[in-house]
Amino acid sequence: MITKAQRQQLIKAACAARQQAYAPYSNYAVGAALLLADGRLVTGCNVENASYGLSICAERAAVFKMVSEGVKEFVAAAVCTENAGSPCGACRQVLTEFAGDVPVYLADAEGNFRETTLYTLLPDHFGPEHLEIS
Ligand code: THU
Repeated sequence: MITKAQRQQLIKAACAARQQAYAPYSNYAVGAALLLADGRLVTGCNVENASYGLSICAERAAVFKMVSEGVKEFVAAAVCTENAGSPCGACRQVLTEFAGDVPVYLADAEGNFRETTLYTLLPDHFGPEHLEIS
């Protein structure tokens, strides 16, 4: 269970991470934050490239940071954009690798947010169990 204070901290961290976005091509800055079971936060922002297809979304940047820091699970996520945009399909898939049906907060630049969950965003997702074939 996430406290109100943790939720606010998570959303604030996603909006702060958004300030670090490198998005000169789309001008659509995105910040993401993951809450870990021990209360720590891991953040990420989108990082674009002149070779457009090499750009990475904020959510995946945060997940890759988390895993590279030795953690393989998060308990809630927040994404902050100008207009409370929803995570892209690729990010939904990557997020489901490292969490169950956890709360996801979609915030706008003013900090207004709506709450959804990971499995609401990506029902019937492909997971490691699908690789267990004989
Ligand atoms: N973007 C994200 O960072 N996360 C998403 O879930 C959707 C899209 C980024 C990618 C690109 O840098 C910009 O937003 C416009 O698509």
